[in-house]
Amino acid sequence: MKRKEILRWLREPNPAELMSLYRHADTVRRTNMEEAVYLNGLIEISNNCQRECAYCGLRSGRTNLKRFRMTENEVVACARKAVLFGCSGVMLQGGDDPELTREWVADVVRRVKAETPLAITISLGERPEKDLRAWREAGAERYMLRFETSDAELFQRIHPSLSEKRVNRLGTLKKLADCGFKVGSGIMIGIPGQSYESVARDIELLTELHLDMIGSGPYLPHPDTPIGSGQMVQVLPPGEQIPASEDIVYRLTALLRRLNPRVHIPVTAALATLNPNNGRELGLMRGANMVLTNLTPLKYRKLYEVYPNRICLREPADGASEALRGRIRSIGRRVAASSATKPRVSNIPTLLL
Ligand code: 5AD
Repeated sequence: MKRKEILRWLREPNPAELMSLYRHADTVRRTNMEEAVYLNGLIEISNNCQRECAYCGLRSGRTNLKRFRMTENEVVACARKAVLFGCSGVMLQGGDDPELTREWVADVVRRVKAETPLAITISLGERPEKDLRAWREAGAERYMLRFETSDAELFQRIHPSLSEKRVNRLGTLKKLADCGFKVGSGIMIGIPGQSYESVARDIELLTELHLDMIGSGPYLPHPDTPIGSGQMVQVLPPGEQIPASEDIVYRLTALLRRLNPRVHIPVTAALATLNPNNGRELGLMRGANMVLTNLTPLKYRKLYEVYPNRICLREPADGASEALRGRIRSIGRRVAASSATKPRVSNIPTLLL
């Protein structure tokens, strides 16, 4: 599919045409992936972050947020909960927090691997190669790092560099593949200043990266951030700004599935936040094959405020699993029994943002 066709789908006004895109994406998913939906438990281990991303509620400049860091025993307890809930893996996610040391994370990974059958995905931002290697050696299989946007100018504007550390997400993706990780990435869609054209390019780049997982979600404004408060405005000419809508997330999901028949595509919490009623179901029917369920203890979950009003604060904490299974069954699918994700070679070309 050429960029022009991607763009046409992103802008397609005819609902009947769109349904044909969605049906096609669902067929591609069914023929290339197992029918089962993978359930992955999200464990938010620290909301400390040294970065200043202009959209994110965890940015270090935000002073009115209580910060937390989970203990090793707390993380392991969450992983045990993931097993009880029938998850095939867990994602250990956090801000860019240097106090989550190489050794500490490696120990946690080793314990979870020793005590559970779970696959482990780490999502702790850009870290030195030594840390990444140590975590891979400790047994983590996958690493998730979104590049957010391939528009270099927009990327730099919303991701200020720390004095000693230049932001280089694509360079880190390459390092991750070199370390032997299965690599996940993705974008935010609807960032103010993000055009339809740049998202078409994002879709091409996500495809060129030969990823194991692609997780993308809508941008949701947080009032305590430069973009969300309206301090940092970027206005594109009329008709060029891509919306942060539910509809556009489905188009993105379907296009990514058509271009990446065997990639894991989760439905994200941000989509479910936009449509708590059936956003996840529709995502799963339009190309996605994985669901992330939040397993962070509620007292911490409230503080992991990347954007406000997260779905995981509106749904029952520990009942999430049964309700989720019901949702998955309601569309004629079932939850995968265990971790059966096959390793895939990630071959990341050297591209710099
Ligand atoms: N809206 C949507 N997603 C966000 N993220 C951070 N802030 C927001 C927001 N305001 C996402 C980014 C990041 C991940 C940790 O959370 O894509 O990679």
